Amino acid sequence: MRVLGLETSCDDTGVAVFDTENGLLAHKLYSQSQMHAEYGGVVPELASRDHIRKLLPLVREVLADAGTAPGDLDGVAYTMGPGLAGALLVGASIGRSLAYALGIPAVGVHHMEGHLLAPMLEHDAPAFPFLALLVSGGHTLLTDVRAMGDYRLLGESVDDAVGEAFDKTAKLLSLGYPGGPAIAAAAAHGTTGRFRFPRPMTDRPGLDFSFSGLKTAALIAAQQHALDARTIGDIAHAFQEAAVDTLVIKCARALEQTGHTRLVIAGGVGANTLLRTRLQELGGRNNVRVYYPRPVFCTDNGAMIAYAGALRLRAGQKEGLVFSARARWSLMDLTAP
Ligand code: KG4
Ligand code: ZN
Repeated sequence: MRVLGLETSCDDTGVAVFDTENGLLAHKLYSQSQMHAEYGGVVPELASRDHIRKLLPLVREVLADAGTAPGDLDGVAYTMGPGLAGALLVGASIGRSLAYALGIPAVGVHHMEGHLLAPMLEHDAPAFPFLALLVSGGHTLLTDVRAMGDYRLLGESVDDAVGEAFDKTAKLLSLGYPGGPAIAAAAAHGTTGRFRFPRPMTDRPGLDFSFSGLKTAALIAAQQHALDARTIGDIAHAFQEAAVDTLVIKCARALEQTGHTRLVIAGGVGANTLLRTRLQELGGRNNVRVYYPRPVFCTDNGAMIAYAGALRLRAGQKEGLVFSARARWSLMDLTAP
């Protein structure tokens, strides 16, 4: 089964073709981040308009790369939520109408399920069940994954998502948008020990997270010092250490609690090198295998949507002719296909 996947939930237009027999045939991403950088964050209306401009040309390019004519497709998958309503509607309306015109089924995919299954695009794919750490700009979740669609929430952020904390801290340090890679780059020039920020909610039991206090600690440090390059590096360094440490502590706790021997990391913050290294070390100490997608499949992409959609379409799931977008949609509401 050959499936076209469309991702337009935020500021990346992602398109891919996944074939259940032959794997990923082609994928492409158009990032709007330069356009939004001027405003220090994503401007929803600009995002929607840019998806409208970029999506169909990108579909043509990806189909050509995949050596696939529209008539060779067996289904279309698009991100149905969660995300920015206007941006989601672009992918949903184009995806649903394309499938209608081609006389093939369409399926709406949950963006976080896409992230969660992205490591399965890799050669060394994890088997079910596993513990998953989902870390993106909008979510910080620890989930017990028994099978596709069988997700149990173990913990989540009670306030800011970890990616959001990276983005906001980068903004206050004038490091630009998106903040994650900018903080990581600045942190590489920072030193250990000059600042130390809290590891929120690690001193009490449970698997929930909180990142707004960490962000405030960075803000106070930034207000109390002249922000020269050295200080920016030191604050970024201390921030990254605290954020990563917090995630690692909670993963260790969740592994102990569940007894899982596989840990999957997905979502944009999963591209962070320090986080990947520290979780790999944690796995090594505990006989746990750690899986993550290549960095381009950690951040938003069309391949993860084509993949998750293909599995659901193959199992017979499809949408009716009325398409919808769900700006808010809990991963825990999903069921097995
Ligand atoms: O998954 P994603 O691309 O989009 C959402 O679904 O939100 O995640 C984007 C988030 C942003 O907050 C971005 O700053 C963060 O992932 N991010 C990183 C890195 N690359 C992206 N955070 C830390 N280190 C990185 N290398
Ligand atoms: Zn995402």
